[in-house]
Formats: sequence, structure tokens, C-alpha cells
Amino acid sequence: MWLPATFAVVILSFLAATVVGQWQSFATDRAAREIAYNTAPSIERLTSVRGELRNLHLVLRDELDRVARGQKPDPSPVNRARNAIQQEMDAYLALPTWSDELVLAGNVLRTQGQLGETVSRFQDEIARGDIPAATTTLTLDFNTAATNLNAAVMDVTELNAAHAHDLALEIQRIRSKATYAAFGLDVVATAIAIAGAVMLRRVIRDHADLVERHRRLEEERACELEQFAGRVAHDILSPLGAVSFSLQLMNQPDQSDAKRAQIAERGTSALSRVKRLVNGLLDFARAGATPDPDARAELRSTLMDVASELQPLADERAIELGIKEDGVCYARCNAGVLTSLVANLAHNAIKYIGDGPVRRIEIRTRHSAQVVRVEVEDSGPGLPPDIEPRIFQPYARSKGSMEPGIGLGLATVKRLAEAHGGRVGVRSITGCGCIFWFELPAVEAMAGVYESVPAPA
Ligand SMILES: Nc1ncnc2c1ncn2[C@@H]1O[C@H](COP(=O)(O)OP(=O)(O)OP(=O)(O)O)[C@@H](O)[C@H]1O
Ligand SMILES: [Mg+2]
Repeated sequence: MWLPATFAVVILSFLAATVVGQWQSFATDRAAREIAYNTAPSIERLTSVRGELRNLHLVLRDELDRVARGQKPDPSPVNRARNAIQQEMDAYLALPTWSDELVLAGNVLRTQGQLGETVSRFQDEIARGDIPAATTTLTLDFNTAATNLNAAVMDVTELNAAHAHDLALEIQRIRSKATYAAFGLDVVATAIAIAGAVMLRRVIRDHADLVERHRRLEEERACELEQFAGRVAHDILSPLGAVSFSLQLMNQPDQSDAKRAQIAERGTSALSRVKRLVNGLLDFARAGATPDPDARAELRSTLMDVASELQPLADERAIELGIKEDGVCYARCNAGVLTSLVANLAHNAIKYIGDGPVRRIEIRTRHSAQVVRVEVEDSGPGLPPDIEPRIFQPYARSKGSMEPGIGLGLATVKRLAEAHGGRVGVRSITGCGCIFWFELPAVEAMAGVYESVPAPA
């Protein structure tokens, strides 16, 4: 949302800078036009009026001298000089005037009228041959009228010059004001553009991080699904062994019907464990090794299931398999995952119990409001010292082990427990046996609700 807004502000700032620039050129153009087409031509015309006035004075004196010398009066040069003044005045008056100038222009017209009357009188006196009167008119009246007209023209000229000066200053003021405004807008636009670029860079970086995290997650998920195949293959072998054992027993002719029914039930429950295991591990793998927060598995029934599955194997090896649980409790994982955890540890205990005279395995549970803990204790030889430090790493197996296996069971237990927020560990005493344990977060709310469920016999 902020990105389009930033771009909009930047574009608006640049547009505003352009508008300010245009406004400046309109204002300066207007002032420059006023100077070029009004004040400058006015000054030029008024200056010409003054020049023509001097020329008229000379022409009148020539006329007086000529007639005084007895020559015939010639009004043409005087009339031409008068017309020249009139033409320049007309040209000036044709230009635009403003209110202050109008007052002064009125003075010019008035003094020009006085001058015209004086000149007409002079011409009459010359025509009559009255030289003394003409001399008086020229030296006194004409001089006074010419001085008045000159002064009036000077006033208008100065007014136009002052106006031109003001316009020039205004041009300068507009220019500097517009320059500051445009500069300020450019600075604002640049600052916003830089801020936008920084934010954009951050967004791109965050997006790249997100894409990278997503890619890693996908990779992990693919890897987890890949590992799933291995775990499933690994974990279902044991219950499938129970199924196959049941089928073999059922095929024996000396079995009674009651015994067969019991064997069939055991085989069926082994198969349902296979299903639960596969479903649980598949759910976990599909979730990219992230447990479902709503998952829960009841500990006691899972322990009973695993124990009943392993019982024939334990009997075969003359192992006493016991369960000690401290009431109903729920772990925060699905039933398949919990089955995998317990079955791996219990199966190892049977596999590696060795040939000692005491042959006992105990699966225990303990729980608090926060944690459930499962311990599998055996009376075997304990861990071989060569693998103890790396016992939970994949493919860690004792060199001298005669038991079949690939070394993934404990690595799977650690991986599943930790992925569900739990821990694993082992305490081994050479010659006395091992206690493998794992802990998982408990589902507190459920503990009270199921308090009344009777404990299994
Ligand atoms: N209770 C135990 N007593 C003694 N040694 C054990 C016990 N449990 C595991 N071990 C040793 O730890 C090794 C690793 O066990 P892990 O379960 O990871 O693999 P595995 O049992 O060899 O093969 P699998 O992948 O089939 O489980 C075993 O090979 C064994 O040497
Ligand atoms: Mg194992």
C-alpha cells in the first residue's frame, strides 16, 4: 500500500515542480512583455517628443531670422516640426497607460495644447510681419510653454522608467521564489524517492528471504517424505513379523478353535498397529516435520498395544516384559508417532538383552502437568562403549552386533521426540542394562477429563 503512495507523492512533487516552473515563466513573460511592448516604447516616444521640441525651437528661430531679414514667411518647416511632435505624441498615446500614468499624460496633453497655441500665435505674428511681437512670443511665451511641456514629458518618462525598474525587480523576485520552491519540491521528491527505494529494497529482501525460507521448507518437506519411506519400512517390520507369526500359528493343525480365534485377534490388532504407525508417520512427514498442534495420543493404550505385539517375541526369548504406568495421560503427538517411539525402544531392549540369567524389561510412564515421560529399562549388558556417545545418530551400530538392523531406530526416536518439542536420553551401566527414555509435552487439559477411565488390568 505504501509503495504506490510513495510513487504518487514523488510524481506529484515532480509535477508540482513543473507547475511552479511554468507559473514562474508565465509571470516573468508578462512582466517582460510589459517592458518590451509598453514602458520601453513609451520612453522611446517621449524621448523623441523632447527631441522634436528642440527641433521646433530651432525652426521657429530660423523663421524669425529669415522674416526679420526681409524674406517671405514660409510656414512649411514650422508645420512639419509641429506634425513630428504630434506624431510622436499620438504614437505614445496609442500605447497602454495605467492610472498613475494617465494623470501625468493629461499634463503632457495640456502643456502640448499651450505650446500649440503659442506657436500658432507666433505664426500669425510672422505672417503679419510683426517681428517684435513674434520675438517676444518666441523668447518668452514659447520658452515657457516648451519648458512646461518638456517637464511634463520628463515626468511621464521617469514614471515609465520607474515602472520598468519595478518590473525588472519583480522578474528577479519571481525567479528566485520559483527557484527556491522548485528546489524545495525537488528535495522533497528526492527524499521520498530515496525512502521509497530503501523500503522497496527491504521489501524485496524480505520477499527473497520468504522465498528462501519457503524453498528450504519445501526441501525439508521433500526430505522428510523421503525419510518417511525408510521409517515406515523400518517400523512396520516388527508388527508385520507379529502378523506373519500369527498366520504361521494358525496354520498348525493342532490348534483349538479358541486358540485360533485368539491368534487371529492378535494378528488383526498387529495389522491395525501397522495402519496406525503408517498413518501417524505419514501425517508427520506431510506436515514437513512440523507436528499438528491438535494431535494427542493416549500413553497407556499405546504401551499396551506395543507390549502385546512384542509379547510373543519376549516369550520366545524368555524375557519377562512388564509395564508400570502412572495413570491416564496424553502426549502432544499422534498415535502413530507415539507407537513408533515406544516400539523402537522396547524392540531394541528385546533385541539387545543378551544371554544373561536375569531377563527382564520394564516399560514405565511418568507424567506431570507439562511432560509425559516413558522409560524402557532392560537387564541386558548395557551399551557397547564404542557407540555410546553417538547412540542417537543415524546408522550408529555396534561393530560386533549379531542382531539384524540398520541403525535407524534410535535416530528416528530422537528425530520424532525433538520435532514434537521433547527430549531423549539413555543411562547405561555396563553389565547391568540400559534405561532409554523420552519425554514429550503433555496435553494438560485432557488429563483431568479422562481421570475416571479405569486403569487396565
Ligand atoms: N537396549 C539396548 N541395549 C544395548 N544396546 C543397545 C540397546 N538399544 C540399542 N542398542 C545399540 O544401539 C545400536 C543402535 O540402535 P538402533 O535402534 O538405532 O539401530 P538398530 O537396532 O541396530 O537397527 P534398527 O534400525 O533396525 O533399529 C544398536 O545396534 C545396538 O548396538
Ligand atoms: Mg533398533
